[in-house]
Amino acid sequence: MSYNLLKGKKGIISGALDERSIAWRTALKCHEEGAELVLTNAPVAMRMGEINKLAEAVNAPVIGCDVSSNEDVTSLFTKTMEHFGGGIDFVLHSIGMSINVRKGKHYTDIDYGFNAKSLDISAMSLHRMLATAMKMDAINEWGSVVALSYIAAQRVFPDYNEMADAKALLESVTRSFGYHYGVKKHVRVNTISQSPVRTTAGSGVKGFDGFMEYAEKMSPLGNASSDECANYIVMMFSDMTRKVTMQNLFHDGGFSFTGVTEAVIEQMEK
Ligand SMILES: NC(=O)c1ccc[n+]([C@@H]2O[C@H](COP(=O)([O-])OP(=O)(O)OC[C@H]3O[C@@H](n4cnc5c(N)ncnc54)[C@H](O)[C@@H]3O)[C@@H](O)[C@H]2O)c1
Repeated sequence: MSYNLLKGKKGIISGALDERSIAWRTALKCHEEGAELVLTNAPVAMRMGEINKLAEAVNAPVIGCDVSSNEDVTSLFTKTMEHFGGGIDFVLHSIGMSINVRKGKHYTDIDYGFNAKSLDISAMSLHRMLATAMKMDAINEWGSVVALSYIAAQRVFPDYNEMADAKALLESVTRSFGYHYGVKKHVRVNTISQSPVRTTAGSGVKGFDGFMEYAEKMSPLGNASSDECANYIVMMFSDMTRKVTMQNLFHDGGFSFTGVTEAVIEQMEK
């Protein structure tokens, strides 16, 4: 059911790789809620071609952008503003990549060159997007920017590897830039810390299935799905959340504040 929460709003959705992607589910919901969209992903991901199916479904152009390139990010905002004929109301940062995880490097033995690239793509890219948008005055007054995070930013999940540091940095950029963009133009910036979901990025984490099952048992409401995450993002893009900024918002069925559950104790006693 649509509530027209985003009627008249225009936004950029990054990171839709395939139909499991959180960004993919979010683009569908934003479209359903009346938004006009521009989709973007790294040129290498666009070559897979899947994103064209989504572009057709939500009637949006796809603009290639490697978020580690200043030039690409500038071109993304320029082309988006041309397409919309003006400013942007919301941006979804749904981008994560760990080169050390990909290369099978243990956290205690990471390659620092790969690490710099991982932090740049997964965290500083949010800074780059915000800084570029601010310089170009691309985001409208009371606009909303959401990036996706994970609780490994606060607590140790050993196999999450360097992505834990990337998420901690992402949440810090959210606070720091959220302050400046708030003062300057009432633009709000938040992260949503989402339950594990089986996506390409998610299942790259070692032992992912066990990890998901554990989270399910540790969450009073159960794991939050990507469609549920998309609903939360829509709400954050809507005018219903205008005074929420610089926050890390847990969307995890209660996992983050649960010490233990009966289901986990039962399992331990087996
Ligand atoms: N899946 C989970 O369990 C989970 C949980 C919490 C948070 N998140 C976060 O959600 C976000 C989206 O991930 P997802 O799970 O939907 O997986 P996904 O693999 O579908 O999405 C990750 C996206 O990042 C894009 N990307 C990678 N490098 C890029 C670059 N240089 N420039 C532009 N785009 C680039 C990929 O092409 C891909 O579309 C990530 O930030 C991820 O860390 C995921």
